[in-house]
This record gives sequence, structure tokens and C-alpha cells, in this order.
Amino acid sequence: MVHEPIDVGFADDLLGKLSSLFAQYGDAFRVFSPITQSHIYVLSHPDHARHVLVTHHDNYTKGIGIERVGILLGNGIMVSEGELWRRQRKMIQPAFHRSVISGMLQHIAAANLQLSDKWVGYANRKQEINVTQEMSEITLRVVLRAIFGPDIDKMSTPTGANPFSLLTEETERNLAFAYKFRLLTKLVMECVDRRRTQNEKHSDLLGVMMAARDRKSGEPMADRQLLDEVMTLIVAGHETTASALNWMWYLLSQNPEIEKRLHQEVDNLQSLPITLEDTMRFAYTRQVIEETLRLYPPGWLLTRRSIEADNIGGYSIAPKTEIFISPYLLHRHPQFWDQPERFDPDRFEPDRIEQRNRFVYLPFALGPRACIGEHFAMAEMVLHTALLARRVHLHYVPKGSVELEGQVNLRSKHHIYMQLEIRRP
Ligand code: HEM
Repeated sequence: MVHEPIDVGFADDLLGKLSSLFAQYGDAFRVFSPITQSHIYVLSHPDHARHVLVTHHDNYTKGIGIERVGILLGNGIMVSEGELWRRQRKMIQPAFHRSVISGMLQHIAAANLQLSDKWVGYANRKQEINVTQEMSEITLRVVLRAIFGPDIDKMSTPTGANPFSLLTEETERNLAFAYKFRLLTKLVMECVDRRRTQNEKHSDLLGVMMAARDRKSGEPMADRQLLDEVMTLIVAGHETTASALNWMWYLLSQNPEIEKRLHQEVDNLQSLPITLEDTMRFAYTRQVIEETLRLYPPGWLLTRRSIEADNIGGYSIAPKTEIFISPYLLHRHPQFWDQPERFDPDRFEPDRIEQRNRFVYLPFALGPRACIGEHFAMAEMVLHTALLARRVHLHYVPKGSVELEGQVNLRSKHHIYMQLEIRRP
């Protein structure tokens, strides 16, 4: 195995470095991080992903990546481990049941229809849009509505502004941001208290989590834990979808043939999708999103730490060893993907998926710690794409380069701008 020194600070173009080391050394290499004074194994074969995330998952905790977001998320399910994580996951899972998601679709559709009216207005005025910013705003709106239901309208600052807007206005995810973000737990607690005193029952994510009871003890979540879970869902549900949709619009603008096929599908829309099954019928739209998530997986780096010694595909792993599994690298693995750099949604036709090793595609991770919001996110992204692509066509406006930024999420380094053309007034 090859040894290379590496700085694991995200500021140091970790994505670029890992990509070039992968190109040089392939499936397995080891780097040394002078900052943490530890070795990190970077494993990029689907068998490695299956081993660490699925078959031997109980020998791994989350690694250094998660320590970065701990200050932001507290001890919510993204961060917690062991018995606490297991209990919380069971209690939160019902909030992502198909019926709960279906109940949210009309709100998601309404928010996107409103956005499409706004975009048509921009198009009429020949005003370009900042897609990166627009995606950040719409996905924040959707996730907040999903969590707080109609109560989100009651949660405003003294000046009437949305108190959560710092998530779209501030791009840094540093300590100063974490401090301001955590102050918002006060507002969330007020919302929880109001619901309790007025004995209100809601079917939004907060409502389902407040009603959840631990199977063994019959107890609800402690307030502090509930707050950590709410803050986790806000962050996990916002930036990921925002970044995926930002890349999707960019990719569509660069691939007119694919956009044309997408238009054929979304132009057939007879009525608004109101169940999860309805959103499944947008087969090509889904493929476009899946292919976007292949090329630009928002959660581009999964970090894990071994508990006991292990052997992964012939490599001996000592206890407490850091492991990186990068969906970004696996999704571009030349052994498993033909012309990996090409944007080709046909890769996600059902028979082609079946022929492929299923552990080589993991935008939502795999195994017990896979994304809890996958179906919600897919439904949200399909609805957004269908409703917006019907109304407008987006032309890329070059303003500087399009570059990747592998922070906690895979973002575009610079904002992406588009000119709008009306398809349906
Ligand atoms: C395009 C959209 C999304 C992508 C690509 C994505 C990706 C991921 C990935 C890769 C993980 C695993 C992280 C790790 O193992 O370190 C994860 C976990 C998680 N995601 Fe998502 N996610 C998306 C949307 C959402 C949404 C909409 C929500 C909620 C509203 C959500 C909530 C969570 C939570 C709570 C976890 C932690 C689960 C656990 O550890 O039990 N995600 N997501």
C-alpha cells in the first residue's frame, strides 16, 4: 500500500488531492495527516464500501469528518453512536414513512409553483438568476415547512424576517456560524412549548418526533435530544438537496439533448403528483437526478473509524484507524463506469442498474447509517425539476469558472448564474 502525506483540512482542496491520488494508486492507499497525526486509509472499491458500511458496520463509528459537524448538530442522529443512535433512529424513522412524505408533497409543489411564477417574472424582465442562491432558498423553505408545518410562519425575527435565513445568506460553516445557528434552538423550543401547552398534534416531522415513544421505556425524547434532531434535519436536509439541484441545472444547461428528453417527460404532466408513487412515474427525471448525484454526490466523503482490528480486502486495519470512503471516487471508478466523466442518465435505466455492482453507487451512503431522508429528498427533487423545467429553460451564463468545492458537502466554488427563457407562461 502506498503512503502519502495529506492535510485533511477541507480548506486544503482535499477533494482534488484525493482524486489525483486515486488516479495514481487506485482502490486502496494510505495517507498520513500531519494535523491529526494519524494514518487514513482511502478505500474505493465497492467491496470495501460494502464491508465497512454494510457487512461489518458495527465495527465502525463515524470518523473525523463527523467531528467537524458535531458543534453544529449536537448529538443528533448524524453524529450519535451505539444505543443512543439506534434508539433515536427507530424513533425518527416514522417521520420519513411514505405516508408522511406523501402528506408533504402538496406543500413542496406549492413552494415550487410559486418559485416557477417568480422565475417567469424574471424571464419577462430578462433578469438572470443566481441558481446556487435560488436552490439554497427553495430547499431551505421546503425542509423548514416539512419540519415545522404551518408553524414556520410564526417563527420570525422581530423584524419579520425568516430567522433561519442565515443558512442561505452565510456560506461559511465555521464556529461563528455554528454559534449563531445553535441560538435558533431557542425558537424551536418555543414552538415545541407552544404545541404542548395548546395540546396541538401535527403530522410534520417535528410533530411525529414529539409523539414518538421509545419502545422499551415508553418515554418521549428528552427536549435537548429533540432539539439536536431538529437542528440535524435542517442542516442535513438543506445543503444536500440545494447542492444536488444546483449541479443538476448546470448539467442540463450543458446537455441540450438530455434536457430535451426531460422536457418530453415533464410536459406530459396532467395533474400535480400527490403521492410518492406519482413522483416515481417521472422515470427519466429521476434518472437525471440520479446521474447528477453520481457525478456530484453532495455527501462526497464518508469518514469512519474502526473499533476493533479488521481486515478489509486483504488490508490489515488496526483498531481506531481512520477510513475514508468517497462516493465521489467510487462514482467515477473507471473499472465500473464506462466514460465516468460523461453525464448520461441512461446509466440508470432499470436493466443497467441490475447489471452493475450495487455497492459502486452510494450517494445516500449504504447500510444502517444510510440517509434517512433519501425518499423525501428524491421526491422533493423530482417535483422541483418537473415543475420548473415545464415552465422555463435555463441558459448558462458564464461568469468565471465552474469549480468543485469539497467541503462537508460538494458545492460549486462560485455561484452559478442562468438566463431564463419561458416555455409555458
Ligand atoms: C440529495 C439529498 C441528500 C443526500 C445526497 C444525502 C446524503 C446523505 C449521506 C451520504 C448520509 C450518510 C452520512 C455518513 O454516513 O456520514 C446521510 C445521512 C443522513 N441524512 Fe441525508 N442526504 C440527502 C438529503 C437528506 C434529507 C432531505 C434529510 C432530512 C430531511 C436527510 C437527513 C439525513 C440524516 C438525519 C442522516 C443521518 C442518518 C443516520 O446516521 O442514521 N438527508 N445523508
